[in-house]
Amino acid sequence: MKVLILGGDGYIGWPLSMYLSEKGHEVHIVDNFLKRYIEAQQGVECINSPSSLVKRIKTWNEVSGKKINFTVADISENPKLLYRILEDFQPDSIVHLAEQPSAPYSMLGRSQAINTQRNNVLGTLNLIYAIQAHCPEVHLVKLGTMGEYGQPNIDIEEGWIHIEHKGRSDTLLFPKSPGSFYHASKVHDSTNLEFACRTWGHRVTDLNQGVVYGTQTGQSKMHPNLAISFHYDEIFGTVINRFITEATLGHSLTVYGNGSQTRAYIYLEDVLRCVEIAIEKPADKYQFRVFNQFTEQLSINQLADKVALAGKSLDYRVTIDHIENPRVEKENHYFNAVSTHLPNLGLNPTFLTNDLILEMLKYLSDFKDFIDKSKFMPGVKWKNH
Ligand SMILES: NC(=O)c1ccc[n+]([C@@H]2O[C@H](COP(=O)([O-])OP(=O)(O)OC[C@H]3O[C@@H](n4cnc5c(N)ncnc54)[C@H](O)[C@@H]3O)[C@@H](O)[C@H]2O)c1
Repeated sequence: MKVLILGGDGYIGWPLSMYLSEKGHEVHIVDNFLKRYIEAQQGVECINSPSSLVKRIKTWNEVSGKKINFTVADISENPKLLYRILEDFQPDSIVHLAEQPSAPYSMLGRSQAINTQRNNVLGTLNLIYAIQAHCPEVHLVKLGTMGEYGQPNIDIEEGWIHIEHKGRSDTLLFPKSPGSFYHASKVHDSTNLEFACRTWGHRVTDLNQGVVYGTQTGQSKMHPNLAISFHYDEIFGTVINRFITEATLGHSLTVYGNGSQTRAYIYLEDVLRCVEIAIEKPADKYQFRVFNQFTEQLSINQLADKVALAGKSLDYRVTIDHIENPRVEKENHYFNAVSTHLPNLGLNPTFLTNDLILEMLKYLSDFKDFIDKSKFMPGVKWKNH
């Protein structure tokens, strides 16, 4: 298959590009290095200094004997170039990861909220029009997030919900309650994509993904230049990465609030498999298909306990601290999301086991001297405006 990967230089996009290339697909990457730009602007960096995209691709093509190509393009600012890429490459599938993915960044202030929504919403809208112009039959796999749903007091269905109201019934998009201006941008994307499916017959799979963890994949281990980015700062680091890094340094694990907040999680290698499943079994024309892409639900306290347990087995001194929650989110809440489509299509789920945490802790131990503990405490407050 010809697969166009938008955002192929990112945390997920790079390992996905290698994975699909190894499987024999013809992979073409598009990226504008927005992530690297925001890193420089915000003074945060990956602890493992990943290579440039050019070096990554050159190394991959040498060690794998396959060939990934790429174009540097901004899909939100340069629609003409995006049109040309689609016209020339004529992909069978497009995997769209090219968005600003940080909730805290989007909550820094007005200009960051606007940057996020402009980049994400307009990029996706440009893509919808480019598809309509040059490859209306293509299957678009779009990365959404479980954070679009928020924390409703009912079960979270997979994208759609059947509602009976005043004696009538309908199947409607599941109501969304995003937790930041970033999450709101993904909700706007979903609305626009569903409209394009319903109106123009586009075929879209929206992967509402949980928080991803994982430091390496089978392909990234093949050469140091193929390393996957690892962030632990509050802008791009996830809570698991922060806990792993804190444990490595012997710093207490910083739990926001009372730690009862529950979220959905998924292992990076499972993400790659989910995208593969989605492109192998495409959505139908006119279908806006939603998969809830996660394998387990855990509270922050459960995560902290798991990391502490693994850390102790390496003789790390791990303690847990509760700090003021900078976010506006529910604590002690109900959270139960459905995820049946991906397992039914063949996903064999991985869980956050002690062994996996140990693997991440051991990976981080090589970078212990580069950890900057001033990056652990949150500075972005949801209510500071
Ligand atoms: N990592 C997670 O835990 C997670 C969880 C849920 C959803 N997601 C979603 O998955 C996708 C990928 O996430 P990630 O963690 O790999 O993020 P990332 O920031 O590492 O990767 C995104 C890539 O897209 C590029 N990009 C951004 N805007 C672009 C534009 N306008 N034109 C071209 N390239 C652009 C960036 O430079 C970056 O390389 C995002 O859409 C994110 O919202 C991620």
